[in-house]
Amino acid sequence: MAAPRNTTDDDITTEVLQRFAQTSDTRLRQIMLSLIGHLHAFVKEVELTEAEWFQAIEILTRAGHLSDDKRQEFILFSDTLGVSMVVDLLNHRKPDGATESTVFGPFHRLNAPEMPYGGNIAPLDKQGPPTLVSGRVLDLGGRPIAGALLDVWQAQTSGLYDSQDPSLHQMHMRGKFHTDAEGRYLVRTVRPVHYPIPSDGPVGAMLRATGRHPWRPAHIHFVVSAEGHEPVTTHIFDSADEYLASDAVFAVKGSLICDFTRHEMAEGEARRLGIIPPYYTTHFDFRLKPASGQTTVLDAQQRLAALGVR
Ligand SMILES: [Fe+2]
Repeated sequence: MAAPRNTTDDDITTEVLQRFAQTSDTRLRQIMLSLIGHLHAFVKEVELTEAEWFQAIEILTRAGHLSDDKRQEFILFSDTLGVSMVVDLLNHRKPDGATESTVFGPFHRLNAPEMPYGGNIAPLDKQGPPTLVSGRVLDLGGRPIAGALLDVWQAQTSGLYDSQDPSLHQMHMRGKFHTDAEGRYLVRTVRPVHYPIPSDGPVGAMLRATGRHPWRPAHIHFVVSAEGHEPVTTHIFDSADEYLASDAVFAVKGSLICDFTRHEMAEGEARRLGIIPPYYTTHFDFRLKPASGQTTVLDAQQRLAALGVR
């Protein structure tokens, strides 16, 4: 008579682990064995009910149905569970002086328009106060990097990205800027606002059920890349924002917080660009470390494109 099999939950775990232990790809084997171990331990620890198991299936199914080329509910889950920032920290241990990275988020789009020095990414936003973001892209020795690419995106004053705004039929508040010979860049925009992440899906339901708010502090997104250097995916944050200490996606780092200074009279670049006061300026220098040889300039964008996110 055959020996009884799988009589306890631990027997099942053991057998599942044994089957995955045959995986020939060593990295995949490591990931699967760890995943099974933690997943089974979690289910046993909370003594998951069948109703809760089915609810989890429904949540994941809903997240899949909501995700398309403009919305990525799974990235929102990763962000709001803090997983995105843990992955970020594990993968971007910068040497002293390099600009810190933060979450990529779900709202990047490929093919943002090319912009000149001082180009305006917010021509349709008539509500937000005009703002100039300037600075340089430098290497770790403080030397300027000419021709560096800054891929910039930002929410409108309404709190919505263009991809969330049905009244828009074009890329808005996105642009690609290149540094000049002295490594300088200049972006014309409006002052960023805090906004809630989309809360009409399962991520929003999770936040409400757990007593969390959906707000992100005001920020502007950047991916900065240059030949021979490791690209950095990051934000700059407004130092005056009330949600800096409770970002829904845990993405704030102190080194990325900037003061936005109010001006009552047009001077310098603002005068040249015809900006009508009052307006704001802020300044941030990006510092890139040398390429490790493993990352490419478009790495993050190519991975998102492979997911169908444009
Ligand atoms: Fe954002």
